[in-house]
Amino acid sequence: MAARGLLRFLTCGSVDDGKSTLIGRLLYDSRLIMDDTLATIAKDSRKHGTVGEEIDLALLVDGLEAERQQGITIDVAYRFFATPARSFIVADTPGHEQYTRNMATGASNSDLAIILCDARKGLLTQTRRHSTIASLLGIRHVVLAVNKIDLVGFDQAVFDRIVADYTAFAEGLGFATLVAVPLSARFGDNVTQRSPRMPWYEGPTLLEHLEAVDTEADAASRPFRFPVQWVNRPNQDFRGFSGTIASGRVAVGDRVVVAASGRSSTVARILGPDADQAEASAGEAVTICLADEVDVARGDVLAPPQERPAVTDQFAAHLLWMDEDAMLPGRQYLMRIGNLWTPVSVTSIRHRVDVNTQKQLPARRLDLNEIGFCNLSAAQRVPLDPYAENRQTGAFVLVDRFTNRTAGAGMVAFSLRRATNIHQEEFLVDKAARAALDHQKPLVLWFTGLSGSGKSTIAKLVEQALHREGRHTYTLDGDNLRHGLNRDLGFTDADRVENIRRVGEVAKLFVDAGLIVLCSFISPFRAERRMVRELMGPGEFIEVFVDTPIEECARRDPKGLYAKAMAGTIKNFTGVSSPYEAPEAPELRVATLGLTPAEAAEAVLAHLRGALAR
Ligand code: ADX
Repeated sequence: MAARGLLRFLTCGSVDDGKSTLIGRLLYDSRLIMDDTLATIAKDSRKHGTVGEEIDLALLVDGLEAERQQGITIDVAYRFFATPARSFIVADTPGHEQYTRNMATGASNSDLAIILCDARKGLLTQTRRHSTIASLLGIRHVVLAVNKIDLVGFDQAVFDRIVADYTAFAEGLGFATLVAVPLSARFGDNVTQRSPRMPWYEGPTLLEHLEAVDTEADAASRPFRFPVQWVNRPNQDFRGFSGTIASGRVAVGDRVVVAASGRSSTVARILGPDADQAEASAGEAVTICLADEVDVARGDVLAPPQERPAVTDQFAAHLLWMDEDAMLPGRQYLMRIGNLWTPVSVTSIRHRVDVNTQKQLPARRLDLNEIGFCNLSAAQRVPLDPYAENRQTGAFVLVDRFTNRTAGAGMVAFSLRRATNIHQEEFLVDKAARAALDHQKPLVLWFTGLSGSGKSTIAKLVEQALHREGRHTYTLDGDNLRHGLNRDLGFTDADRVENIRRVGEVAKLFVDAGLIVLCSFISPFRAERRMVRELMGPGEFIEVFVDTPIEECARRDPKGLYAKAMAGTIKNFTGVSSPYEAPEAPELRVATLGLTPAEAAEAVLAHLRGALAR
């Protein structure tokens, strides 16, 4: 058999399915364990091992102390081994439910997945989840390893039933190869050695299959993509673009375009780590110099003129949510795609994918570990490819703007055309002209606070005073807008996000109209208050935290809502059964206890005068 190229695969399964033991077995049987490692393991087996005096193969791979102690795997670990026929890199990913993120990380670099299941238990939610994720992450080759077959007496019927279940489940997942192997990782049956105890099994051993499987998908055969990591300009005479070739190959003399601008040029030089090279291909880190002075920025992508990536700010993608905080449509996240960072939000969830049944379900949000097919909108146009065509330029992550946690992993499906052919029209009368006519600086006074904290009361007095001074104002108020523009929204987290998103857009228009806009909304989430702030120009957003303790709001209870909320007849009531995230750095905090409404309004006006004078 001709030696095949490197095979990257990952193993996934539930806790206790025996993943680590299986990997240990592969490494052990491949005779790649160094003698001294073995000595340490023999010692450790006595301390932590779960198999008596035998060497516990799981300890070979469970490198992390925490994991040994908890008995679960908590990170992705990559291991290398080789046989005369092939070299392998195996990503060992955790089985514990909350660690789906690591599984996704491992899967994105792999060509094949070994899905482990325990012969005694058959398919579990985890088995289905991991298979679905593997499929979404572009894995086309799967091995179903039915482990612990010794514990069911090497029974063919058990194996056949599990294989039938899995084959039925995996039908829609688009796997190109699916091979099931009955094995015992602990005793080595059918891992690298054919088992004499399962004469009924005629397929390959696990290792035979891994050595033979053809995963083609060579990144070098795909269209050239070069995401620019940085613009290298040490002096006036040199300007190169550095990065790692994501796919395809490039040679000196090739025509390329800068995806975002569509400007084209010719590759003049390719600098490798040591010297100039005539060409380079996927995976190589190089610096490319172009023949012409074209604008290229970090995050741009160089591509062949005939095979360009899409450049779009609207696209559909599968999103795997990995954060404790749910994904809410309308909320802004930071997207990293290639070397580009840009704010992005989900404009709608087309459906959620049930990982057990593959059914498409309606959804208003995505919770931890859920997968949705979503429309996204980015703050700028970005070069991208469908993930099915390119696993580098079609993959992205979403980062929570406050915690900086990686919150979601995305796989681009296609770019949406809806926003093309819509241009921004420039008018002859602009914000500055309108503001000048009104002799005022347009801005937003954003009142946030609990229901009953006094937002509307204070805003009314402030508006009245401004009006008397000859200011041109308008007030947007939660209760009022919910009778019209936002009449379709309730009080779920997702609806509140959408409420504030719309209000923010309207406020921006009114500021553009030259007005002083008073907005009075609970606006309980810092993410959306920040989003509105960022819609406005510098100094145009004044956040006023109307800070009234909830006991006082409940005591005042102007609309009788607290009484109902506490009795349970209003659901999702802010401060009672729905959160309020107090502003950390508002422009102004008005603690209303002990103030009359007029005094509170005066505090706002005083701040405003100061801000306007500046
Ligand atoms: S926000 O959370 O989306 O910003 P908004 O300010 O528009 O809320 O509306 C809040 C008003 O709706 C409250 O002042 C109250 O009168 C009314 N309301 C009705 N149900 C609720 C609820 N469950 N939580 C909060 N306010 C509610």
